[in-house]
Amino acid sequence: MNYLERANEKLKSLKDKQGLVVLAIESSCDETACAVTRDRVVLANVIASQIEIHKRFGGVVPEIASRNHTLAIDNVVRQALSDAKMTFDDIDCIAVTYGAGLLGALLVGVSYAKALAYALDKPLIAVNHIKGHVAANYLAKPDLEPPFVCLIASGGHTAVTYVKSLTEIEILGSTQDDACGEAFDKVARVLGLPYPGGPQVQKLAEQGKPVIEMPTPLKDKHTYDFSYSGIKTAVINYVHNKEQKGEEYSPADLACSFQEKATDIMVNNAIACAVDKGVKTLVIAGGVGSNQVLRAKMKTRAEEKGIEVFYPPLGLCTDNAAMIASHAYNMIRCGCEASDISLDAKANVKITD
Ligand code: KG4
Ligand code: ZN
Repeated sequence: MNYLERANEKLKSLKDKQGLVVLAIESSCDETACAVTRDRVVLANVIASQIEIHKRFGGVVPEIASRNHTLAIDNVVRQALSDAKMTFDDIDCIAVTYGAGLLGALLVGVSYAKALAYALDKPLIAVNHIKGHVAANYLAKPDLEPPFVCLIASGGHTAVTYVKSLTEIEILGSTQDDACGEAFDKVARVLGLPYPGGPQVQKLAEQGKPVIEMPTPLKDKHTYDFSYSGIKTAVINYVHNKEQKGEEYSPADLACSFQEKATDIMVNNAIACAVDKGVKTLVIAGGVGSNQVLRAKMKTRAEEKGIEVFYPPLGLCTDNAAMIASHAYNMIRCGCEASDISLDAKANVKITD
């Protein structure tokens, strides 16, 4: 038997194993991360963030990200094993994010995971990053069961989805232009706030009031799609207008008004989908999902309609490897195939892949 045949044989025996141990690697953007999970319990979740390195450029520089992943990855993996009080022998399989993300950054994780899986002769599981974000919810709530509606709000994606099973996701609506996280980051930049913008906008908004009018995108359309370029442009135009006229304005009010509108759009869409689908559970996934206003608003408004809302703790909303391990666990339980050593990284991957 060759490596792949052996890996698939092992996966079959792991399908129903109690205490399945997954080591997962994530390197799609500017976090080098490794986690170890046993079933849906996180034993180690190590994240080496490059935020400080990229801050001075106002965003992630792909080349620099790849180089720093290369420098960090070995230590991060060894730290995760040590935190989990395990050795490589205790690991049942290796999971890795193969896409979507920055190609050079992904390649570091994929190459490392392939080498590890081959050297240890253990199955390799290729995980879709966005499905990983959704799967973070199973770590927060191990008895969570599909079907449910999931709002996915990350730096690159904004979509409302119907999670049919542990591995199948149907898109009900998605953004027609910018992702919500992207809009938060651009608004932060025009307000002179450092990268990454989302948490900074949230912090500034705490001191403001939602008194500046923002446009309502796709107002007269019957759709679950999103559009963020209109409100992003409204913020940029507002700032430029005030600057040109030499007028004072309140950045806190502007941040707050933007955040109110941005979160309203997500909450309204997600709840309408949950009502239409007749599901009683709504979950949130992705970095923007750590926004406190979004979380609170979603909970209050959904509960008025008898819908329960769950979201992962903050550290599992933004990029991490535990969520990748969680989706790999779901894939194995559903009888997935192992990946071969020819596995390649992909910059673009659909939510449904
Ligand atoms: O999911 P994520 O960590 O990475 C991607 O897969 O894209 O999402 C990153 C995005 C960034 O745009 C960041 O500004 C945004 O999530 N974000 C937030 C908050 N924390 C992170 N946006 C709004 N409020 C937050 N508290
Ligand atoms: Zn992400």
